[in-house]
Amino acid sequence: MTETGGTVYIETYGCQMNVSDTELMLGNLTSSGYTSVSAPDFADVILINTCAIRDHAEQRVIGRLGEMKSRMKKGAVVGVTGCMAQRLGAKLMERAGHVSVVVGPDGYRDLPSLIENARRGERGMSIEFDSEEHYEDFAPRRFDGVKAWIPVQRGCDYRCTYCIVPSTRGPERSRNLADVVREAERVVADGIHEIVLLGQTVNSYNDGTHDFADLLRAVGAVPGIRRLRFTSPHPNDFSDRVIAAMAETEAVCEHVHLPMQSGSSRVLKRMLRRYSREGYFECADRLRAALPGVALTTDIIVGFPGETEEDFQETLTAVDAMEFEEAYTFKFSPREGTPATRFPESEMVSDEVASERLARLIGRVRAASRTRNLGLLGQRREVLVEKPARRGGMLQTRSRDFKTVMIAGDHSLIGKYLTVELTGTTGSTFIGTVQHQREALPMAV
Ligand code: 5AD
Ligand code: SF4
Repeated sequence: MTETGGTVYIETYGCQMNVSDTELMLGNLTSSGYTSVSAPDFADVILINTCAIRDHAEQRVIGRLGEMKSRMKKGAVVGVTGCMAQRLGAKLMERAGHVSVVVGPDGYRDLPSLIENARRGERGMSIEFDSEEHYEDFAPRRFDGVKAWIPVQRGCDYRCTYCIVPSTRGPERSRNLADVVREAERVVADGIHEIVLLGQTVNSYNDGTHDFADLLRAVGAVPGIRRLRFTSPHPNDFSDRVIAAMAETEAVCEHVHLPMQSGSSRVLKRMLRRYSREGYFECADRLRAALPGVALTTDIIVGFPGETEEDFQETLTAVDAMEFEEAYTFKFSPREGTPATRFPESEMVSDEVASERLARLIGRVRAASRTRNLGLLGQRREVLVEKPARRGGMLQTRSRDFKTVMIAGDHSLIGKYLTVELTGTTGSTFIGTVQHQREALPMAV
């Protein structure tokens, strides 16, 4: 195999699941003799792991593919992987002559052979769904040294009317609990003590014998796991069992990313989210009652077909009521083939109106988080030092309840758990001063 090796560069777009897929692909390619490099210019193989969730995400990839054409070395193989590869298939190769490999989320096992063929001038594609595929035998090559993403479920069986994911990632399937636990043990042995379980609707996890409650308890019981998170859950899959497991598993952090999408029951119904405004509130209340101090973050779409100003007002009042730690906000982007594109033309919200609503929503979210964060100054948090901050020579740390806290210190603190006092806020992030330092847990044997 090694005679076929060379250097490979992978660029990743989209969600954490895609980041995790890149780790799997790189693990597999390095064990097939490739060496990973951090720039495309001299790589023998360039892969773009893509996202299809909004048109904007796809346009970025198209722009980047154009750039690669002029930057890549002669004879390099260019491949497109992930959700956009699945969505567009052969069209990608027709449109971009320099792309010779197209592989969807269930086809990564075929990558080494497709790349080999491409090196001999044969273009190839793998876009079949495989409802058994979990890449169990791939050893992921992780880039984050302090937390590990572990995929526990692939695909999605919900049919939210705006969403392309069911058609890019195929049917929902869950990994065996024992395999997930084994991976968690390996992660701890590698010196990582924070785990994020990944799935499209992660709390609907079910391996045929165990549900998500069992999974949380089992992973939380792995010696050395200090923090356990998961993303993204669906509000309807927070059974009492799951909430009890969260409350009773010490490692489970006081943070839930709970996508709301809209605060209007009428819009939620048209989105086929399968809960109402009240249903969402009730779910948030149950989480708050069981996990004191839990921080909620969310995703919200504005400008969904048929959304009126009244509907949008309901989203604003829901944001006020929910006191989200953070809201990731998007303008609706019609995705070819999804049910939301079939609403009558007259119901489409103009880009102008959607942009204006988005700006108002962001303003509201920011104002609320600023007020709340000012009120938290003086409090203490345990933080994990994650990485150098982008500015000011500071370090970026994260609390269990998902607050970003910048602290002064040198790189040797990365991976350590510290207690900090929240001394300042920019509105969304905090500045902290270190109170005392506790060593990260020793490596498990
Ligand atoms: N348009 C805009 N936003 C979307 N999302 C998913 N599909 C679309 C779309 N067609 C958002 C949802 C989801 C997040 C990952 O992306 O809010 O939770
Ligand atoms: Fe992730 Fe969805 Fe984008 Fe695919 S389309 S990369 S699942 S966000």
